[in-house]
Amino acid sequence: MQPQFIIIHQQVAPYVAHIQLNRPKELNALNLELMGELRDALKVLDADDNVRVIIISGNEKAFAAGADIKQMAGKTAMDMYNIDQFSTWDTIKKTKKPLIAAVSGFALGGGCELVMLCDMIIASETARFGQPEIKIGVMPGAGGTQRLTRAVGKALAMEMVLTGRFITADEAAQAGLINRVVPVELYLEEAIRLASTIASLSPLAVKMAKESVLKAFDSSLEEGLHFERKNFYLLFSSEDQKEGMQAFVDKRTPVFKGK
Ligand code: CAA
Repeated sequence: MQPQFIIIHQQVAPYVAHIQLNRPKELNALNLELMGELRDALKVLDADDNVRVIIISGNEKAFAAGADIKQMAGKTAMDMYNIDQFSTWDTIKKTKKPLIAAVSGFALGGGCELVMLCDMIIASETARFGQPEIKIGVMPGAGGTQRLTRAVGKALAMEMVLTGRFITADEAAQAGLINRVVPVELYLEEAIRLASTIASLSPLAVKMAKESVLKAFDSSLEEGLHFERKNFYLLFSSEDQKEGMQAFVDKRTPVFKGK
């Protein structure tokens, strides 16, 4: 079935797919249906050998203005428990290929949390990041208090979560939340450029490297180092390792096959 709330661009560059959130009138508010479509699309692209990196964007005005407030407004705690909306997010988190968020305009609440669930973030100078849930009587529920704090530190995270203040793209870059800021007309192009660089490398090494970096968030240093070492050794069973090292010796460009 054709998705209703997202647009999937299969090959915006070799081995690069792009998913565009597409509820423009609602500033891409993340209703359950959109999140379900995003989860399903990511599952398919993650299993597709012709895709090595996935970009997620909104439009120029909004990446996403958060979870759909109108859909949640009348719910009880038991409704929320039974709907279990965040299980969708748990599946998205399992995506093995790198996810790049290309952000323009609002990235608020669940929008900011979705951005932070991605592995790298390219922002247009118009991007605004925030966790304004406190202004509607709740708090972040899709990782905001945890990922934001790890990314920008306690003081700024506390201020953003407790006041709902939006930060600019420049402030986000300075705080280490995002990779870089570019003019608005270039944000997608820059995300594709970054994705293409990664897509030209060994997809096996890329996946294991992503997995290893993420391990740093929920393990002790010792455990993380052990995990890294195992993945490093494991890559020596790949053809890509032989190709990459031989190409270096031969002074030629390697051709990685993901084997
Ligand atoms: N949910 C549902 N609808 C939303 C929405 C949201 N999160 N954000 C915007 N919309 C809708 C508006 O209701 C409006 O719809 P109508 O035209 O039918 O009235 C339309 O999108 C355009 O929005 P505005 O008219 O408000 O646009 P604006 O430019 O004046 O303001 C804004 C933009 C500052 C982003 C403002 O829309 C806003 O504050 N949005 C809500 C942000 C927010 O609180 N996000 C957190 C949601 S809770 C959450 O995300 C929980 C979690 O952790 C998962």
